[in-house]
Amino acid sequence: MPLDSPSLIVGNWKMYKTREEALDYINELAEKVKGTSNEVVLAVPFTILYSAAKAAKKTPQIKISAQNMNDAKEGAFTGEIAAKMLTDAGARYVILGHSERRRYFGETNEFINHKVKRALKEGLIPILCIGESKEENESGKREEVLRAEILEGLADVHLKDGKELILAYEPIWAIGTGVHAGGKEAEEAHSFIREVLKEKFGDEIASHIKILYGGSVNPGNTKELLTGKNVNGLLVGGSSLDVNTFDHIINFNKQVNE
Ligand code: PGA
Repeated sequence: MPLDSPSLIVGNWKMYKTREEALDYINELAEKVKGTSNEVVLAVPFTILYSAAKAAKKTPQIKISAQNMNDAKEGAFTGEIAAKMLTDAGARYVILGHSERRRYFGETNEFINHKVKRALKEGLIPILCIGESKEENESGKREEVLRAEILEGLADVHLKDGKELILAYEPIWAIGTGVHAGGKEAEEAHSFIREVLKEKFGDEIASHIKILYGGSVNPGNTKELLTGKNVNGLLVGGSSLDVNTFDHIINFNKQVNE
């Protein structure tokens, strides 16, 4: 995305923060986002959703996301959470298919596909994560993996009636490792993802799907990563936990110009 267009910056808090910590963070962030045109989404733990959404209500630039959900409408699934419970708590987005869920909790493309369809049906915007492992990258399989994750993850998804969907390219080798994709490499993957989305949805719909980059994003590499014309925003893990560091990512243009 050209550097002067607004980007979508998503902070993924993973399994960190209590309610009190979250509220302090959101109050500070509300001040910091005043000067930016970028949109900000915070993907918070389930226990924080309701209070975070309430605290963020007065700041239209900050929206709240969940990090996972079950694919069933409701039912006897102990410990699981349904899409309508997330919307009820104030979530607007939900991260689906994060590589940590695929790896540690055995989530398959098929299961993730059911979740994407459920999320869309219940009025949530899915942020579908895709990305290749180090081995797949080194053996030249990146495009094959991305294509399968997109087409299987989005099987029978039609995006009618202006339904919104976001993709996040998160190479597994870059998550939490401090090694990030270079700006050129990220754009190359994103432009491939855009082509697959065009095949699936047609040019018009595909051109409106935001594709985020995720994996060791920090204030120092934000500008480079956002230079790609198909990079519409960032999914930030570790660097979103401290509000000042996250601020340097959201307001990277301001910091650079100051
Ligand atoms: P990271 O995590 O920024 O800590 O690499 C990104 C993610 O897992 O979404």
